Amino acid sequence: MSEEFYVTPWEVRGKVDYRKLLEKFGAKELDVDVVNRLGSMAGEVHYLIRRGFFYAHRDFDKILEVAGRGLPWALYTGRGPSGPVHIGHLVPWILAKWFVDRFGVELFFQMTDDEKFLDDEEATLKETNGYAYENSLDLIALGFPQDKLHIIIDTEDIGVLYKIALKVAKKLTWSAVRATFGFSDSTNTGLIFFPSLQIAVAFLPTELRGETVHVLIPAAIDQDPYFRLARDIAETLGYPKPATLYSRFISSLRGESKMSASVAESAIYTTDDERSIRVKIMNAFTGGQPTAELQRKFGGNPDICPVYEYHKLFDPNDKNIGEIYENCRGGHILCGECKALLFDKIKSFLKIHVEAREKARDKIHMYRLSAKLR
Ligand code: TYM
Repeated sequence: MSEEFYVTPWEVRGKVDYRKLLEKFGAKELDVDVVNRLGSMAGEVHYLIRRGFFYAHRDFDKILEVAGRGLPWALYTGRGPSGPVHIGHLVPWILAKWFVDRFGVELFFQMTDDEKFLDDEEATLKETNGYAYENSLDLIALGFPQDKLHIIIDTEDIGVLYKIALKVAKKLTWSAVRATFGFSDSTNTGLIFFPSLQIAVAFLPTELRGETVHVLIPAAIDQDPYFRLARDIAETLGYPKPATLYSRFISSLRGESKMSASVAESAIYTTDDERSIRVKIMNAFTGGQPTAELQRKFGGNPDICPVYEYHKLFDPNDKNIGEIYENCRGGHILCGECKALLFDKIKSFLKIHVEAREKARDKIHMYRLSAKLR
């Protein structure tokens, strides 16, 4: 890995160079042809793809081919429930919802309360399992139809995964897993087995249907190591290679590459109250000049500004986004004004989200895969 940045599923350090990361991981950049093909099949291209949040893939073109031929395919993504959900986590879930709506496919969603227990010295199973339920509320709040979303909570639903995970584990050597995840002699053995469980869900739809079901995994690029390994062994186990669609990270409020759930000041959580969101936004790093006078004279730099990035995340209207960009560049808007606009957008989004989240509280069981299989 390059000296200036470091990316694993558990840690991101430094300023991420997304091109270099692709070279390192060996995934492909999304090109115009694939995006146009998606547009012609779906009737539109989701703004998270259009605006370059999603920028890379493995075999996404094959999924489009499979969809075009009417063959079965499904979505898979997940969450390591270590704490509340932040706005970055919503990125792959929002896109997954769009695929569900546009293509009528099902989403298998894994809550890895086991992983988060193993990964954090301090965490208890009670806590991570509690967050699996809390985080499920955020997912359901996005409006998935009950028959399209299947939630798997690892510590409770291991039965559907265990046989597949064993087959996976038998194919994965210690040296491959160690090299892929950077494990060392002091890594606990739970964490060493865990990749088999995250990979297993990619093969679950095929097992459940008893026929080949292709799988598309929308996630941020940090999850690639799992699916690289999954692709290496899929065919020897009789499963199709999972395809992936990768996003960049939503930046932290402080301007670092990744908003991180474990750094409270870096993140806006869906459970934050309005006051703390306002304070967090008002204190955020920006691409603006140090004084209002300099900003008016020279303009700011939206390309490095997390506030502008969050505008792009919360405002699907391209015209508004274009105006903010030009006004910032031309010095016609000050950072304080831009932050106030952003606060209003996030406040409106969260008002609806929080209500939907509360309504989901007594409905989680309806979305559990285990309940549907009984
Ligand atoms: P976790 O909980 O670290 O992250 C959940 C999802 O959010 C993405 N993500 C982000 N996306 C954009 N900007 C950010 N700042 C940001 N931070 C996190 C992650 O890439 C992920 O898609 N091991 C996984 C859980 C998991 C999973 C999966 C994820 C199980 N199966 C299949 C993706 C696909 C984890 O701990 O994710």
